[in-house]
Amino acid sequence: MERWGKSRLTEKQMAEFPGDTLFDKIARAVCRAGTLPVKELYEAWETARRIRRKFRGGRVLDLAGGHGLLAHVLILLDDTSKEALVVDAGVPKNAGRLSEAIISEWPRLAGRICYVEASIADVAVFPDDLVASVHACGILTDEVLRLAVKARARVAVLPCCHDLTLSDTGGLTGWVNGPLAVDVMRAAWLRQQGYSVIARTIPDDITPKNRLLMGHPETPV
Ligand SMILES: C[S@@+](CC[C@H](N)C(=O)[O-])C[C@H]1O[C@@H](n2cnc3c(N)ncnc32)[C@H](O)[C@@H]1O
Repeated sequence: MERWGKSRLTEKQMAEFPGDTLFDKIARAVCRAGTLPVKELYEAWETARRIRRKFRGGRVLDLAGGHGLLAHVLILLDDTSKEALVVDAGVPKNAGRLSEAIISEWPRLAGRICYVEASIADVAVFPDDLVASVHACGILTDEVLRLAVKARARVAVLPCCHDLTLSDTGGLTGWVNGPLAVDVMRAAWLRQQGYSVIARTIPDDITPKNRLLMGHPETPV
């Protein structure tokens, strides 16, 4: 199966994930829900794994979270995160079906993941939170970073749809392509805010928008 595939996973594809691994179990739940393309399954999984290698615990804020798979995977990978909020201006109608399919497999998640239909600007962020966002389009990623930094919270973003007129390219487009310039400037901005920066990628056969930018406030010396 191509990992970048955009067709929806359904019960017919369950046989593609026959194993006992956590990933295969999540994939089968996603197939049962029948709500997401294969690409989003792999994006959420690969992003969440990398986030959890660096950041443990804390309330998860999955901003511009859509169906909220990222929030579910982040909690499955680290049960010390007691709760998660999935915030989206337009929560997909079938998001609940995805959540129910995952919770029926892992009942300990029941009541711990809430969907909030709101702008991310309306969410209160606290220093212990883990702010995460996959493919918040264009300047929405900049807003996610600003909200996290304002609260001095840990942050992880996988940007997409870079807007070269509204985001800061730092005048670097003569050297590197525009989206890369924007992401480099985002990393530099995080550093200026007193954050340690961690730059990773997820495999590019899933998505070419694969740069994962993570940051956490530097501890005072
Ligand atoms: C490309 S989708 C990404 C969804 C999900 N994170 C994923 O990876 O599948 C971008 C999402 O941002 C949401 N969105 C756009 N503007 C927003 C805002 N100001 N506040 C909250 N969500 C917003 C849209 O409704 C959409 O679900």
